[in-house]
Amino acid sequence: MGRELAGHLAGQGDSVVLTGRDAERARQVAREVGKGRQNVRGIALDLAEPHEIARALSGTGPVDHLVITAVERDVNSVRDYSVERAVRLATLKVVGYTVAVAALREVLAPTGSVVLFGGVAKDAPYPGSTTVTAVNGAVVSMVRTLSTELAPVRVNAVHPGIASRASGSMIAAASRWPSASRSPSAGPPSPQTVRAREATARRWRGAASALATSLRAAVASVNRERAARTTARRFAPA
Ligand SMILES: NC(=O)c1ccc[n+]([C@@H]2O[C@H](COP(=O)([O-])OP(=O)(O)OC[C@H]3O[C@@H](n4cnc5c(N)ncnc54)[C@H](OP(=O)(O)O)[C@@H]3O)[C@@H](O)[C@H]2O)c1
Repeated sequence: MGRELAGHLAGQGDSVVLTGRDAERARQVAREVGKGRQNVRGIALDLAEPHEIARALSGTGPVDHLVITAVERDVNSVRDYSVERAVRLATLKVVGYTVAVAALREVLAPTGSVVLFGGVAKDAPYPGSTTVTAVNGAVVSMVRTLSTELAPVRVNAVHPGIASRASGSMIAAASRWPSASRSPSAGPPSPQTVRAREATARRWRGAASALATSLRAAVASVNRERAARTTARRFAPA
């Protein structure tokens, strides 16, 4: 998802810095995403190694928008719980995401934004998702506190359902479990579904804007009537 977003932004001419755990791989992805343009840079950054994050980001900025999508996908059942994998995932999403935001805080534009990625496993767990569910739930809380701390910078989160590039074991674990069918996106959304959702969003935006216009007109008309009554009372013969 991060790669798609980077490609989209690079395509519209924005300067993009993308990160990955390995420097050469990050540079390679930057070249692919940039398609010959010079506006994409790839740097190494491991969010599960939080003490190194500030140094890795020290040459980056000013920044208009920060999007953090990183995850180390994991199916980790409490029946056979891997402490090592759980610690990496919890560190990556809860501490690593926060440290990355903290490291860029001073170079973030006041009109800028931060978008963190959680996931619907926060509400729709499946066997093996305990740590994933917990860290995605933590993203909800982090958005609340970070938006308080960073205002006027906007802070939001996206919580995707299972998308087509999720790992096979994760799709299998989630889709075997009934809560997956309650997910807003129970399976990989097809391009038609995505287009239909975009069309719905556009319609709602249009409807909301029409509603706002008619409400403003109604308020203006009430205000005019009230002003007319006040004037009439003031100048009425005693
Ligand atoms: N895909 C889904 O079905 C789904 C469902 C629910 C939620 N989500 C959430 O949506 C977000 C994006 O998911 P995705 O499917 O795009 O993930 P993805 O394809 O697995 O990509 C993960 C990215 O994170 C980077 N990464 C992994 N470990 C890292 C670390 N320790 N430090 C820094 N970067 C690291 C990887 O780059 P390198 O390998 O180069 O390091 C890769 O670019 C995630 O937060 C995920 O939890 C996805």
